[in-house]
Amino acid sequence: MSERQDHASPGRRPTTGDTAAVAPPCAMVIFGAGGDLTKRLVMPALYNLVTAGRLPDGFRIVGVDHGRRTVEEWRQGLTDMMNQFVGSHDGEFQADRLDKKAWQWLGERMSYVQAEFEDADAYKRIGQHLAELDKTAGTAGNYLFYLAVADRFFETVVERLGAADLVGEQDGHWRRVVIEKPFGHDLPSAKALNASILKVLQEQQIYRMDHFLGKETVQNIMALRFANGLFEPLWRREHIDHVQITAAETVGVESRGKFYEQTGALRDMVPNHVFQLLSLTVMEPPTSFDAEAVRGKKAEAIQAIRPLKPGWVERDAVRGQYGPGTVLDKPVLGYRQEPNVSPTSNIETYVAWKLQIDNWRWAGVPFYLRTGKHLKSRKTQIAIRFHQAPHALFRDTHVEKMNPNWLILRIQPDEGIALQFAAKRPGLTMDLGNVSMDFSYKSYFDAKPSTGYETLIYDCMIGDATLFQRADNIEAGWQAVQPILDYWPAHAPKDFANYAAGSDGPAAAGALLARSGRAWRPL
Ligand code: BG6
Repeated sequence: MSERQDHASPGRRPTTGDTAAVAPPCAMVIFGAGGDLTKRLVMPALYNLVTAGRLPDGFRIVGVDHGRRTVEEWRQGLTDMMNQFVGSHDGEFQADRLDKKAWQWLGERMSYVQAEFEDADAYKRIGQHLAELDKTAGTAGNYLFYLAVADRFFETVVERLGAADLVGEQDGHWRRVVIEKPFGHDLPSAKALNASILKVLQEQQIYRMDHFLGKETVQNIMALRFANGLFEPLWRREHIDHVQITAAETVGVESRGKFYEQTGALRDMVPNHVFQLLSLTVMEPPTSFDAEAVRGKKAEAIQAIRPLKPGWVERDAVRGQYGPGTVLDKPVLGYRQEPNVSPTSNIETYVAWKLQIDNWRWAGVPFYLRTGKHLKSRKTQIAIRFHQAPHALFRDTHVEKMNPNWLILRIQPDEGIALQFAAKRPGLTMDLGNVSMDFSYKSYFDAKPSTGYETLIYDCMIGDATLFQRADNIEAGWQAVQPILDYWPAHAPKDFANYAAGSDGPAAAGALLARSGRAWRPL
Protein backbone atom coordinates (compact mmCIF):
# COMPACT_ATOMS: atom_id res chain seq x y z
CA MET A 1 0.00 0.00 0.00
CA SER A 2 1.37 3.41 -0.93
CA GLU A 3 1.88 6.00 1.77
CA ARG A 4 -0.92 8.07 0.28
CA GLN A 5 -3.53 5.33 0.43
CA ASP A 6 -2.47 4.57 3.94
CA HIS A 7 -3.20 8.14 4.98
CA ALA A 8 -6.56 8.17 3.30
CA SER A 9 -7.83 5.14 5.15
CA PRO A 10 -9.44 5.48 8.59
CA GLY A 11 -6.77 5.14 11.20
CA ARG A 12 -6.18 3.35 14.39
CA ARG A 13 -4.98 4.90 17.61
CA PRO A 14 -1.54 3.74 18.61
CA THR A 15 -1.55 1.21 21.43
CA THR A 16 1.18 0.67 23.99
CA GLY A 17 3.56 -0.72 21.37
CA ASP A 18 3.69 2.26 19.00
CA THR A 19 3.76 5.32 21.16
CA ALA A 20 5.67 7.54 18.75
CA ALA A 21 3.33 7.40 15.76
CA VAL A 22 3.48 10.66 13.89
CA ALA A 23 0.29 11.98 12.29
CA PRO A 24 0.20 12.08 8.48
CA PRO A 25 1.02 15.35 6.70
CA CYS A 26 -1.94 17.70 6.53
CA ALA A 27 -3.15 21.27 6.65
CA MET A 28 -5.36 22.12 9.59
CA VAL A 29 -7.70 24.97 8.72
CA ILE A 30 -9.11 26.65 11.81
CA PHE A 31 -12.30 28.63 11.22
CA GLY A 32 -12.60 30.96 14.17
CA ALA A 33 -8.84 31.48 14.41
CA GLY A 34 -9.25 34.62 16.50
CA GLY A 35 -11.66 33.04 18.95
CA ASP A 36 -11.37 31.92 22.51
CA LEU A 37 -11.46 28.20 21.79
CA THR A 38 -8.52 28.45 19.41
CA LYS A 39 -6.47 30.32 21.98
CA ARG A 40 -7.45 28.40 25.08
CA LEU A 41 -7.54 24.85 23.80
CA VAL A 42 -6.67 24.22 20.18
CA MET A 43 -3.29 25.96 20.11
CA PRO A 44 -2.10 24.66 23.48
CA ALA A 45 -3.12 21.15 22.35
CA LEU A 46 -1.18 21.54 19.09
CA TYR A 47 1.81 22.76 21.06
CA ASN A 48 1.58 19.69 23.32
CA LEU A 49 1.40 17.49 20.21
CA VAL A 50 4.60 19.12 18.94
CA THR A 51 6.44 18.47 22.19
CA ALA A 52 5.17 14.88 22.12
CA GLY A 53 6.63 14.50 18.62
CA ARG A 54 3.28 13.69 17.03
CA LEU A 55 3.14 16.27 14.26
CA PRO A 56 4.90 15.69 10.94
CA ASP A 57 7.10 18.09 9.08
CA GLY A 58 4.38 18.45 6.47
CA PHE A 59 1.97 19.98 8.96
CA ARG A 60 0.55 23.47 8.44
CA ILE A 61 -2.04 25.58 10.26
CA VAL A 62 -4.22 27.96 8.35
CA GLY A 63 -6.13 30.41 10.53
CA VAL A 64 -9.35 31.73 9.04
CA ASP A 65 -11.37 34.52 10.61
CA HIS A 66 -13.11 37.76 9.75
CA GLY A 67 -10.64 39.88 11.73
CA ARG A 68 -8.23 41.89 9.61
CA ARG A 69 -4.77 40.88 10.80
CA THR A 70 -1.51 39.67 9.36
CA VAL A 71 -0.12 36.25 10.13
CA GLU A 72 2.51 37.95 12.30
CA GLU A 73 -0.20 39.61 14.35
CA TRP A 74 -2.12 36.37 14.68
CA ARG A 75 1.00 34.50 15.75
CA GLN A 76 1.98 37.24 18.20
CA GLY A 77 -1.47 37.18 19.80
CA LEU A 78 -1.18 33.43 20.27
CA THR A 79 2.36 33.69 21.62
CA ASP A 80 1.24 36.28 24.17
CA MET A 81 -1.60 34.02 25.22
CA MET A 82 0.68 30.99 25.61
CA ASN A 83 3.12 33.04 27.69
CA GLN A 84 0.26 34.19 29.85
CA PHE A 85 -0.84 30.60 30.45
CA VAL A 86 2.63 29.45 31.41
CA GLY A 87 3.03 29.32 35.11
CA SER A 88 -0.42 30.76 35.79
CA HIS A 89 -1.81 27.28 36.56
CA ASP A 90 -5.17 28.74 35.75
CA GLY A 91 -6.96 27.26 32.78
CA GLU A 92 -6.63 24.13 30.72
CA PHE A 93 -3.02 24.58 29.62
CA GLN A 94 -0.63 23.72 32.39
CA ALA A 95 3.09 24.23 31.90
CA ASP A 96 5.92 25.84 33.82
CA ARG A 97 7.68 27.07 30.71
CA LEU A 98 7.15 27.33 27.00
CA ASP A 99 9.54 25.26 24.94
CA LYS A 100 10.67 28.00 22.53
CA LYS A 101 11.85 25.57 19.87
CA ALA A 102 8.55 23.71 19.83
CA TRP A 103 6.50 26.90 19.73
CA GLN A 104 8.69 28.29 16.98
CA TRP A 105 8.23 25.07 15.00
CA LEU A 106 4.49 25.62 15.20
CA GLY A 107 4.71 29.36 14.54
CA GLU A 108 6.64 28.79 11.33
CA ARG A 109 3.83 26.62 10.06
CA MET A 110 1.08 29.20 10.54
CA SER A 111 -0.63 31.25 7.89
CA TYR A 112 -3.72 33.41 8.05
CA VAL A 113 -6.59 34.02 5.65
CA GLN A 114 -8.99 36.84 6.40
CA ALA A 115 -12.49 35.78 5.38
CA GLU A 116 -16.16 36.19 6.19
CA PHE A 117 -17.57 32.71 6.77
CA GLU A 118 -20.51 33.36 4.42
CA ASP A 119 -18.39 34.68 1.56
CA ALA A 120 -18.21 32.01 -1.16
CA ASP A 121 -15.22 33.72 -2.80
CA ALA A 122 -13.22 33.41 0.37
CA TYR A 123 -13.36 29.63 0.04
CA LYS A 124 -11.76 29.91 -3.40
CA ARG A 125 -8.91 31.82 -1.80
CA ILE A 126 -8.64 29.22 0.95
CA GLY A 127 -8.59 26.50 -1.74
CA GLN A 128 -5.81 28.23 -3.66
CA HIS A 129 -3.80 28.69 -0.50
CA LEU A 130 -4.19 25.01 0.39
CA ALA A 131 -3.19 23.90 -3.11
CA GLU A 132 -0.10 26.08 -2.77
CA LEU A 133 0.74 24.45 0.57
CA ASP A 134 0.39 21.02 -1.01
CA LYS A 135 3.01 22.03 -3.56
CA THR A 136 5.41 23.88 -1.32
CA ALA A 137 4.92 22.48 2.18
CA GLY A 138 4.14 18.81 1.59
CA THR A 139 0.66 18.81 3.14
CA ALA A 140 -0.26 16.01 0.71
CA GLY A 141 -3.77 17.21 -0.06
CA ASN A 142 -5.00 16.21 3.40
CA TYR A 143 -7.15 18.89 5.01
CA LEU A 144 -8.62 19.05 8.48
CA PHE A 145 -11.25 21.78 8.69
CA TYR A 146 -11.81 22.73 12.30
CA LEU A 147 -15.01 24.66 12.97
CA ALA A 148 -14.23 26.65 16.12
CA VAL A 149 -17.07 29.01 15.23
CA ALA A 150 -20.50 29.88 16.60
CA ASP A 151 -22.95 27.10 15.81
CA ARG A 152 -25.01 29.31 13.49
CA PHE A 153 -22.11 29.05 11.01
CA PHE A 154 -21.76 25.24 10.95
CA GLU A 155 -24.10 24.68 8.02
CA THR A 156 -22.82 27.63 6.02
CA VAL A 157 -19.15 26.71 6.35
CA VAL A 158 -19.78 23.08 5.39
CA GLU A 159 -21.97 24.09 2.47
CA ARG A 160 -19.34 26.57 1.20
CA LEU A 161 -16.53 24.03 1.62
CA GLY A 162 -18.54 21.64 -0.53
CA ALA A 163 -19.31 24.28 -3.14
CA ALA A 164 -15.63 25.19 -3.37
CA ASP A 165 -14.84 21.52 -3.97
CA LEU A 166 -12.66 21.28 -0.89
CA VAL A 167 -14.09 18.15 0.70
CA GLY A 168 -13.91 15.55 -2.10
CA GLU A 169 -11.63 12.62 -1.25
CA GLN A 170 -11.45 11.18 -4.72
CA ASP A 171 -7.68 11.60 -5.22
CA GLY A 172 -6.58 9.40 -2.35
CA HIS A 173 -6.21 12.21 0.17
CA TRP A 174 -8.50 12.82 3.10
CA ARG A 175 -10.72 15.75 3.98
CA ARG A 176 -12.28 15.91 7.43
CA VAL A 177 -14.44 18.40 9.29
CA VAL A 178 -14.47 18.86 13.05
CA ILE A 179 -17.67 20.34 14.43
CA GLU A 180 -17.69 21.71 17.94
CA LYS A 181 -20.57 21.70 20.39
CA PRO A 182 -23.46 22.64 20.42
CA PHE A 183 -24.63 20.30 17.69
CA GLY A 184 -28.25 21.44 17.47
CA HIS A 185 -30.34 22.79 20.32
CA ASP A 186 -33.03 20.11 20.24
CA LEU A 187 -33.94 17.00 18.26
CA PRO A 188 -35.40 18.70 15.16
CA SER A 189 -32.48 21.14 14.82
CA ALA A 190 -29.89 18.38 15.32
CA LYS A 191 -31.61 16.25 12.68
CA ALA A 192 -31.75 19.19 10.29
CA LEU A 193 -28.06 19.95 10.83
CA ASN A 194 -27.12 16.32 10.26
CA ALA A 195 -29.22 16.19 7.10
CA SER A 196 -27.67 19.38 5.79
CA ILE A 197 -24.02 18.49 6.38
CA LEU A 198 -24.57 14.92 5.16
CA LYS A 199 -25.53 16.37 1.79
CA VAL A 200 -21.95 17.61 1.49
CA LEU A 201 -19.90 15.17 3.56
CA GLN A 202 -19.80 11.44 4.13
CA GLU A 203 -20.46 10.43 7.73
CA GLN A 204 -16.85 9.22 8.12
CA GLN A 205 -15.58 12.70 7.26
CA ILE A 206 -17.48 14.31 10.15
CA TYR A 207 -15.91 14.56 13.60
CA ARG A 208 -18.55 15.84 16.02
CA MET A 209 -16.72 16.93 19.11
CA ASP A 210 -17.61 16.30 22.73
CA HIS A 211 -14.58 17.33 24.72
CA PHE A 212 -15.51 15.00 27.61
CA LEU A 213 -14.31 12.16 25.41
CA GLY A 214 -10.85 13.71 25.41
CA LYS A 215 -10.58 13.14 29.15
CA GLU A 216 -8.39 10.19 30.11
CA THR A 217 -10.72 9.20 32.90
CA VAL A 218 -13.68 9.08 30.54
CA GLN A 219 -11.79 6.87 28.10
CA ASN A 220 -10.77 4.74 31.04
CA ILE A 221 -14.37 3.73 31.74
CA MET A 222 -14.09 1.28 28.86
CA ALA A 223 -10.71 0.02 30.05
CA LEU A 224 -12.04 -0.52 33.56
CA ARG A 225 -15.07 -2.40 32.33
CA PHE A 226 -13.64 -4.42 29.48
CA ALA A 227 -9.97 -4.97 30.29
CA ASN A 228 -10.70 -6.49 33.70
CA GLY A 229 -12.34 -9.79 34.43
CA LEU A 230 -13.46 -8.54 37.82
CA PHE A 231 -16.05 -5.88 37.12
CA GLU A 232 -18.04 -6.93 34.10
CA PRO A 233 -19.81 -9.93 35.71
CA LEU A 234 -21.05 -7.58 38.46
CA TRP A 235 -22.01 -4.81 36.05
CA ARG A 236 -25.73 -5.50 35.92
CA ARG A 237 -29.03 -5.29 37.71
CA GLU A 238 -28.49 -8.48 39.73
CA HIS A 239 -25.69 -6.73 41.64
CA ILE A 240 -26.23 -3.02 41.27
CA ASP A 241 -28.76 -1.08 43.31
CA HIS A 242 -28.42 2.24 41.51
CA VAL A 243 -25.97 4.54 39.78
CA GLN A 244 -25.31 8.24 40.42
CA ILE A 245 -23.67 10.37 37.77
CA THR A 246 -22.59 13.82 38.91
CA ALA A 247 -21.06 16.71 36.97
CA ALA A 248 -20.96 19.48 39.57
CA GLU A 249 -19.22 22.77 38.90
CA THR A 250 -18.24 25.63 41.16
CA VAL A 251 -18.13 28.12 38.28
CA GLY A 252 -21.24 30.12 37.48
CA VAL A 253 -22.20 31.24 34.00
CA GLU A 254 -19.40 33.85 34.07
CA SER A 255 -19.40 35.96 30.92
CA ARG A 256 -21.65 33.54 29.03
CA GLY A 257 -25.02 34.89 30.17
CA LYS A 258 -26.24 35.50 26.63
CA PHE A 259 -25.38 31.96 25.52
CA TYR A 260 -26.71 30.43 28.71
CA GLU A 261 -30.07 32.20 28.47
CA GLN A 262 -30.61 30.30 25.21
CA THR A 263 -29.20 27.06 26.57
CA GLY A 264 -29.60 26.18 30.24
CA ALA A 265 -27.98 23.34 32.14
CA LEU A 266 -29.96 20.56 30.47
CA ARG A 267 -28.95 21.41 26.88
CA ASP A 268 -25.47 22.50 27.87
CA MET A 269 -24.46 19.35 29.72
CA VAL A 270 -26.89 16.43 29.59
CA PRO A 271 -27.45 15.10 26.05
CA ASN A 272 -23.72 15.50 25.44
CA HIS A 273 -21.25 15.34 28.33
CA VAL A 274 -23.38 13.56 30.94
CA PHE A 275 -24.66 11.10 28.34
CA GLN A 276 -21.07 10.26 27.42
CA LEU A 277 -20.56 9.15 31.00
CA LEU A 278 -23.90 7.37 31.00
CA SER A 279 -23.44 5.55 27.70
CA LEU A 280 -19.94 4.34 28.56
CA THR A 281 -21.26 3.04 31.86
CA VAL A 282 -24.32 1.37 30.36
CA MET A 283 -23.18 0.12 26.94
CA GLU A 284 -22.79 -3.54 26.08
CA PRO A 285 -19.24 -4.66 25.30
CA PRO A 286 -18.36 -3.83 21.68
CA THR A 287 -16.70 -6.55 19.60
CA SER A 288 -13.66 -4.31 19.04
CA PHE A 289 -12.43 -0.78 19.69
CA ASP A 290 -13.30 0.04 16.14
CA ALA A 291 -15.11 3.39 15.90
CA GLU A 292 -18.26 1.90 14.42
CA ALA A 293 -18.44 -0.93 16.96
CA VAL A 294 -18.03 1.39 19.94
CA ARG A 295 -20.36 4.09 18.66
CA GLY A 296 -23.00 1.53 17.74
CA LYS A 297 -23.09 0.22 21.32
CA LYS A 298 -23.14 3.74 22.75
CA ALA A 299 -26.06 4.72 20.56
CA GLU A 300 -27.99 1.62 21.66
CA ALA A 301 -27.37 2.51 25.29
CA ILE A 302 -28.92 5.96 24.91
CA GLN A 303 -31.74 4.63 22.75
CA ALA A 304 -32.62 2.30 25.63
CA ILE A 305 -33.44 5.21 27.97
CA ARG A 306 -37.12 4.88 28.82
CA PRO A 307 -38.94 7.67 26.95
CA LEU A 308 -40.40 10.20 29.37
CA LYS A 309 -44.12 10.74 29.11
CA PRO A 310 -45.13 14.40 29.70
CA GLY A 311 -46.65 13.59 33.08
CA TRP A 312 -43.37 12.05 34.26
CA VAL A 313 -41.17 15.11 33.78
CA GLU A 314 -42.43 16.73 36.97
CA ARG A 315 -41.86 13.48 38.88
CA ASP A 316 -38.47 12.40 37.49
CA ALA A 317 -36.66 15.60 36.55
CA VAL A 318 -35.73 18.50 38.82
CA ARG A 319 -34.53 21.90 37.69
CA GLY A 320 -32.80 24.50 39.76
CA GLN A 321 -31.44 28.00 39.48
CA TYR A 322 -28.81 29.46 41.78
CA GLY A 323 -29.48 32.49 43.89
CA PRO A 324 -26.80 34.63 45.55
CA GLY A 325 -24.46 32.75 47.83
CA THR A 326 -20.87 31.94 48.69
CA VAL A 327 -18.75 29.70 46.50
CA LEU A 328 -15.31 28.65 47.67
CA ASP A 329 -15.42 31.39 50.29
CA LYS A 330 -16.29 34.16 47.84
CA PRO A 331 -19.67 35.90 47.68
CA VAL A 332 -21.28 35.51 44.25
CA LEU A 333 -24.35 36.87 42.47
CA GLY A 334 -27.48 34.91 41.78
CA TYR A 335 -28.08 33.79 38.20
CA ARG A 336 -30.74 36.46 37.61
CA GLN A 337 -28.25 39.15 38.56
CA GLU A 338 -25.53 37.93 36.17
CA PRO A 339 -24.64 40.09 33.14
CA ASN A 340 -26.84 39.51 30.08
CA VAL A 341 -29.35 37.48 32.08
CA SER A 342 -32.98 38.50 32.44
CA PRO A 343 -33.90 39.41 36.06
CA THR A 344 -36.94 37.15 35.67
CA SER A 345 -35.14 34.33 33.84
CA ASN A 346 -36.52 30.83 34.23
CA ILE A 347 -33.45 29.19 32.72
CA GLU A 348 -32.16 26.32 34.81
CA THR A 349 -28.58 26.19 36.05
CA TYR A 350 -29.09 22.78 37.67
CA VAL A 351 -30.70 19.54 36.56
CA ALA A 352 -31.28 16.24 38.31
CA TRP A 353 -32.98 13.36 36.55
CA LYS A 354 -33.92 9.85 37.50
CA LEU A 355 -33.97 7.66 34.44
CA GLN A 356 -34.37 4.01 33.61
CA ILE A 357 -32.59 1.97 30.98
CA ASP A 358 -34.98 -0.49 29.43
CA ASN A 359 -32.82 -3.46 28.58
CA TRP A 360 -32.02 -6.83 30.13
CA ARG A 361 -28.86 -5.66 31.83
CA TRP A 362 -30.31 -2.60 33.53
CA ALA A 363 -34.08 -3.01 33.90
CA GLY A 364 -35.11 -1.78 37.35
CA VAL A 365 -31.82 -0.02 38.17
CA PRO A 366 -32.39 3.72 38.58
CA PHE A 367 -29.77 6.05 37.15
CA TYR A 368 -29.65 9.41 38.87
CA LEU A 369 -27.96 12.21 36.96
CA ARG A 370 -27.20 15.69 38.29
CA THR A 371 -25.28 18.63 36.99
CA GLY A 372 -25.20 22.26 37.97
CA LYS A 373 -23.30 25.50 38.20
CA HIS A 374 -22.14 27.28 41.35
CA LEU A 375 -22.40 24.20 43.51
CA LYS A 376 -20.48 23.43 46.68
CA SER A 377 -17.59 21.69 44.95
CA ARG A 378 -16.29 20.75 41.54
CA LYS A 379 -16.81 17.05 41.13
CA THR A 380 -17.49 14.85 38.13
CA GLN A 381 -17.93 11.25 39.06
CA ILE A 382 -19.82 8.04 38.45
CA ALA A 383 -20.82 6.25 41.62
CA ILE A 384 -22.05 2.69 41.40
CA ARG A 385 -23.82 1.37 44.42
CA PHE A 386 -23.97 -2.40 44.80
CA HIS A 387 -26.70 -4.27 46.60
CA GLN A 388 -26.51 -4.39 50.33
CA ALA A 389 -25.30 -7.66 51.88
CA PRO A 390 -28.03 -9.56 53.76
CA HIS A 391 -28.01 -8.53 57.39
CA ALA A 392 -28.47 -11.87 59.17
CA LEU A 393 -24.85 -12.07 60.35
CA PHE A 394 -24.78 -8.51 61.53
CA ARG A 395 -28.19 -8.16 63.13
CA ASP A 396 -26.80 -6.14 66.00
CA THR A 397 -25.05 -3.67 63.74
CA HIS A 398 -26.95 -0.48 63.00
CA VAL A 399 -28.05 -0.61 59.37
CA GLU A 400 -26.71 2.87 58.72
CA LYS A 401 -23.31 1.59 59.74
CA MET A 402 -23.50 -1.24 57.23
CA ASN A 403 -22.02 0.68 54.38
CA PRO A 404 -22.93 -0.83 51.03
CA ASN A 405 -20.21 -1.29 48.45
CA TRP A 406 -19.60 1.66 46.20
CA LEU A 407 -17.38 1.84 43.18
CA ILE A 408 -16.52 5.46 42.53
CA LEU A 409 -15.04 6.58 39.24
CA ARG A 410 -13.57 10.02 39.85
CA ILE A 411 -13.56 11.67 36.45
CA GLN A 412 -12.28 15.05 37.74
CA PRO A 413 -10.64 16.44 39.78
CA ASP A 414 -8.48 14.07 41.89
CA GLU A 415 -8.79 11.53 39.08
CA GLY A 416 -8.99 7.95 40.26
CA ILE A 417 -11.16 5.01 41.21
CA ALA A 418 -12.17 3.89 44.67
CA LEU A 419 -13.84 0.73 45.86
CA GLN A 420 -15.53 1.08 49.21
CA PHE A 421 -16.28 -1.91 51.37
CA ALA A 422 -16.69 -3.00 54.96
CA ALA A 423 -13.88 -4.45 57.07
CA LYS A 424 -13.65 -5.67 60.62
CA ARG A 425 -12.33 -3.07 62.96
CA PRO A 426 -9.43 -4.56 64.93
CA GLY A 427 -10.64 -5.45 68.40
CA LEU A 428 -12.39 -8.05 70.47
CA THR A 429 -15.84 -7.54 68.95
CA MET A 430 -17.10 -7.91 65.38
CA ASP A 431 -17.37 -4.24 64.65
CA LEU A 432 -17.38 -2.96 61.08
CA GLY A 433 -15.50 -0.06 59.57
CA ASN A 434 -15.92 1.39 56.09
CA VAL A 435 -12.71 1.28 54.13
CA SER A 436 -11.64 2.12 50.63
CA MET A 437 -9.18 0.80 48.08
CA ASP A 438 -8.13 3.80 46.14
CA PHE A 439 -6.34 4.17 42.83
CA SER A 440 -5.13 7.64 41.98
CA TYR A 441 -3.88 8.51 38.50
CA LYS A 442 -1.35 10.93 39.92
CA SER A 443 0.42 8.36 42.02
CA TYR A 444 0.46 5.60 39.39
CA PHE A 445 1.11 7.36 36.12
CA ASP A 446 3.48 10.10 35.22
CA ALA A 447 1.14 11.67 32.71
CA LYS A 448 2.00 15.04 31.21
CA PRO A 449 -0.66 17.68 31.75
CA SER A 450 -2.93 17.97 28.75
CA THR A 451 -5.94 19.98 27.70
CA GLY A 452 -7.86 16.88 26.57
CA TYR A 453 -7.85 18.21 23.01
CA GLU A 454 -4.54 16.57 22.07
CA THR A 455 -6.04 13.09 21.67
CA LEU A 456 -9.05 14.47 19.84
CA ILE A 457 -7.08 16.51 17.30
CA TYR A 458 -4.57 13.73 16.80
CA ASP A 459 -7.37 11.21 16.29
CA CYS A 460 -8.87 13.41 13.55
CA MET A 461 -5.52 13.43 11.82
CA ILE A 462 -5.12 9.67 11.93
CA GLY A 463 -8.78 9.13 11.06
CA ASP A 464 -9.97 7.47 14.27
CA ALA A 465 -13.51 8.60 15.03
CA THR A 466 -14.04 6.45 18.14
CA LEU A 467 -14.05 9.48 20.43
CA PHE A 468 -16.44 11.48 18.27
CA GLN A 469 -20.18 11.50 17.98
CA ARG A 470 -21.88 9.80 15.07
CA ALA A 471 -25.16 11.27 13.79
CA ASP A 472 -27.20 8.61 15.60
CA ASN A 473 -25.39 9.19 18.91
CA ILE A 474 -26.26 12.87 18.77
CA GLU A 475 -29.87 12.30 17.79
CA ALA A 476 -30.40 9.62 20.45
CA GLY A 477 -29.21 12.12 23.07
CA TRP A 478 -31.58 14.86 21.95
CA GLN A 479 -34.44 12.39 21.63
CA ALA A 480 -34.06 11.34 25.26
CA VAL A 481 -34.10 14.91 26.62
CA GLN A 482 -36.72 16.28 24.22
CA PRO A 483 -39.74 15.62 26.53
CA ILE A 484 -38.07 17.75 29.22
CA LEU A 485 -37.15 20.46 26.72
CA ASP A 486 -40.79 20.54 25.65
CA TYR A 487 -42.27 20.50 29.13
CA TRP A 488 -40.19 23.00 31.09
CA PRO A 489 -40.69 26.21 29.10
CA ALA A 490 -44.43 25.58 29.05
CA HIS A 491 -44.54 25.16 32.84
CA ALA A 492 -42.79 28.03 34.54
CA PRO A 493 -41.00 27.08 37.77
CA LYS A 494 -42.65 28.52 40.85
CA ASP A 495 -39.66 28.57 43.14
CA PHE A 496 -36.67 30.01 41.21
CA ALA A 497 -34.02 30.76 42.46
CA ASN A 498 -34.26 27.57 44.46
CA TYR A 499 -30.71 26.90 45.60
CA ALA A 500 -28.06 29.13 47.06
CA ALA A 501 -24.82 29.37 45.13
CA GLY A 502 -22.29 27.21 46.95
CA SER A 503 -24.89 24.72 48.21
CA ASP A 504 -25.45 21.20 46.95
CA GLY A 505 -28.46 22.07 44.81
CA PRO A 506 -32.23 22.34 45.23
CA ALA A 507 -34.01 20.39 47.94
CA ALA A 508 -36.21 18.71 45.32
CA ALA A 509 -33.14 16.90 43.95
CA GLY A 510 -32.67 15.25 47.33
CA ALA A 511 -36.34 14.27 47.40
CA LEU A 512 -35.91 12.51 44.04
CA LEU A 513 -33.76 9.88 45.77
CA ALA A 514 -35.28 10.06 49.23
CA ARG A 515 -38.61 8.73 48.04
CA SER A 516 -36.97 5.37 47.38
CA GLY A 517 -34.84 5.52 50.53
CA ARG A 518 -31.68 6.64 48.77
CA ALA A 519 -29.50 9.73 49.05
CA TRP A 520 -27.03 11.58 46.89
CA ARG A 521 -23.39 11.14 47.74
CA PRO A 522 -22.08 14.35 49.29
CA LEU A 523 -20.56 16.89 46.92
C1 BG6 B 1 -18.96 22.94 28.28
C2 BG6 B 1 -20.15 23.68 28.81
O1 BG6 B 1 -19.31 22.21 27.15
O2 BG6 B 1 -18.47 22.07 29.30
C3 BG6 B 1 -19.76 24.47 30.05
O3 BG6 B 1 -20.64 24.56 27.82
C4 BG6 B 1 -19.15 23.56 31.08
O4 BG6 B 1 -20.87 25.14 30.59
C5 BG6 B 1 -18.03 22.73 30.47
O5 BG6 B 1 -18.64 24.36 32.12
C6 BG6 B 1 -17.55 21.67 31.45
O6 BG6 B 1 -16.39 21.07 30.96
P1 BG6 B 1 -15.17 20.71 31.90
O7 BG6 B 1 -14.20 20.01 31.02
O8 BG6 B 1 -14.67 22.01 32.47
O9 BG6 B 1 -15.74 19.84 32.97
